[in-house]
Amino acid sequence: MDTIPRLVRLLVLAVVSLTVAAADDVGCPGAPSMSVEAACRKACGTQLMYDVCRDSLRDVPDPSASHDVTGYALAAARGVLASEGATMDAAIQLLFNASLSGDEKSAYVECVESYTAAEEAIGNVLDDLPVCSFDGLAADYKNGLLDLENCRDRVIRLPASPLYAMVLVDRNKAVLAFFLGQLFGI
Ligand SMILES: *[C@@H]1O[C@H](CO)[C@@H](O)[C@H](O)[C@H]1NC(C)=O
Repeated sequence: MDTIPRLVRLLVLAVVSLTVAAADDVGCPGAPSMSVEAACRKACGTQLMYDVCRDSLRDVPDPSASHDVTGYALAAARGVLASEGATMDAAIQLLFNASLSGDEKSAYVECVESYTAAEEAIGNVLDDLPVCSFDGLAADYKNGLLDLENCRDRVIRLPASPLYAMVLVDRNKAVLAFFLGQLFGI
C-alpha cells in the first residue's frame, strides 16, 4: 500500500545520486568525450597553452580514458578559482605594507576589486557547468578574463611587483578554462 511513497523516495534518491555523479563526469547532452591529451590538443593552439592544460588537468583520474569535456572544463574552472584566491590573498597582504607608494596602493586596491569580480564570474561558471546550463557561459568566461586583465594592466605599470607573475599565471589558467569551454560549443 505504500508503493507510491516508496517510488517517490527511490526517484528522489536516484536524482540525488545523479547530481553527485554529475560533479565530476558531467555528461551534458551534446558535449564530446575524449582523453585529457586529446582535449588539450583540441582546445589549445600553442605549446604554452597545451602545457597549462595538462597541468590544470593533472588530477583527472584515468586521463587516457574518454571523459566528457564538461568535466575537464569544470576542473579547469576550479583551478582558476583556487589560483585567483591565492593572488587575491597576496594583494591583500601587500596592502599591509606601509611603505607602498600611492601608485602601488591604488593598483593593489583595484586588483582586489577586479579579482572580486573575476571570482564572481568564474563562480557563475562553476554554478552553471554541473547543471549543463550553457547560456551566458561565454560571457562569464570573458568577463572574468577582462577583470584579470584590468588588474594586469595596473600592475604592469609599477616598477616591479610581486603580483605581476601571479596575475599572468591566473590569466593563462582562465584562458585555458575558456578554451576548454569552447570544446562544447559555447
Ligand atoms: C614594501 O613596499 C616597498 C615599496 O614597494 C618595498 O620596497 C618593500 O620591499 C616592501 N616591504 C615588504 C616587507 O614587502
